[in-house]
Amino acid sequence: MSAPLLLALETSCDETSAAVLRGEDELLGHVIFTQDIHRLYGGVVPELASRAHLRTVDDVVDGALREAGVRLDEVDAFAVTAGPGLIGALLVGVAWAKAAAWAEGKPLVGVHHMEAHLFAAQLEHPGARPPFVALLVSGGHTLLLRVPAWGEYHLLGATRDDAAGEAFDKAAKLLGLPYPGGPSIQQAAAAGDPKRHPLPRPLLNRGQRPGDPGYYDLSFSGLKNAVRLLVRGLEQEGRLEDEVPHVAAAFQEAVVDVLASKTMRAVKESGCRRVVLGGGVANSRALRDELRRRLGKEGELYAPSPRLSTDNAAMIARAAVFHLQRGERAGLELNARADLPFPGLVRG
Ligand code: KG4
Ligand code: ZN
Repeated sequence: MSAPLLLALETSCDETSAAVLRGEDELLGHVIFTQDIHRLYGGVVPELASRAHLRTVDDVVDGALREAGVRLDEVDAFAVTAGPGLIGALLVGVAWAKAAAWAEGKPLVGVHHMEAHLFAAQLEHPGARPPFVALLVSGGHTLLLRVPAWGEYHLLGATRDDAAGEAFDKAAKLLGLPYPGGPSIQQAAAAGDPKRHPLPRPLLNRGQRPGDPGYYDLSFSGLKNAVRLLVRGLEQEGRLEDEVPHVAAAFQEAVVDVLASKTMRAVKESGCRRVVLGGGVANSRALRDELRRRLGKEGELYAPSPRLSTDNAAMIARAAVFHLQRGERAGLELNARADLPFPGLVRG
């Protein structure tokens, strides 16, 4: 008998995605539809996201099934992101998956979106298994974790205000660069000198010791304000346009320095030189290069390809396999939760 077929859905934010996974890592079909409409507003508009999910979800699932060469009635189990995320957006996927599981008489499992980001690298890199240190950096979350085993997540630090991706998006907006901010800042920064306008490294100083508040935590709102003040000054002097690449480079360097430094603290303290990246900001070339450089030859960095770094259903499917293997099943009372707690997460 061949390994079970799983159909997973992801609709927590502005990507409508479906994946067909056989066993643990045979991705047979995978469609990601990124909603373009939000570009007009410089950020995701929740109500527009829900409506766009509703319009596209059927086509996205059909596309994934077609690519996989699988009929809906051949699927052995259904999985869906149950949270965290935008409630209206989540509900579209949850309602779809519940209806399909009920109609087909197959098991259903709800998945935590951030836990799924931890599994993304595994789909492409078989070695990306625990134990590892994980840095999850997306538009909504920034988490530093120690992962001794799947399902056991030790929270070392998190952002106290803006998420790393959110910081990129806000800084880009201040610089007049398009949404999403990460890629636009990366592109602008390529032609910039990061040393021309030095920016602060919030919550990072050499005097911090393990156990100090702020040893692992992150903060980006102060950095955003520093960019705001810098931009205002440059604007008043009529120099902003010429300086955009330099400010972008300085901002990117500051965020990367803070993220890499805190991750290396976790590496040092845990004695584990294996790091897994997840979330949209894992696409940052500067972040990957810096982490690889600091980890050195004895270290290992596992970063998903761009398609699996940002929101996608393949990672939901991979996380669901783990939960199904543990015998977990959701009933039809499964509900979407905007603030779903991270399963298996403990402090420290
Ligand atoms: O994981 P994701 O697709 O969605 C959320 O769950 O939030 O992450 C999106 C975030 C955006 O804030 C975007 O600016 C950021 O990932 N991002 C990047 C890069 N590519 C995407 N940030 C920095 N550098 C990049 N190359
Ligand atoms: Zn995400």
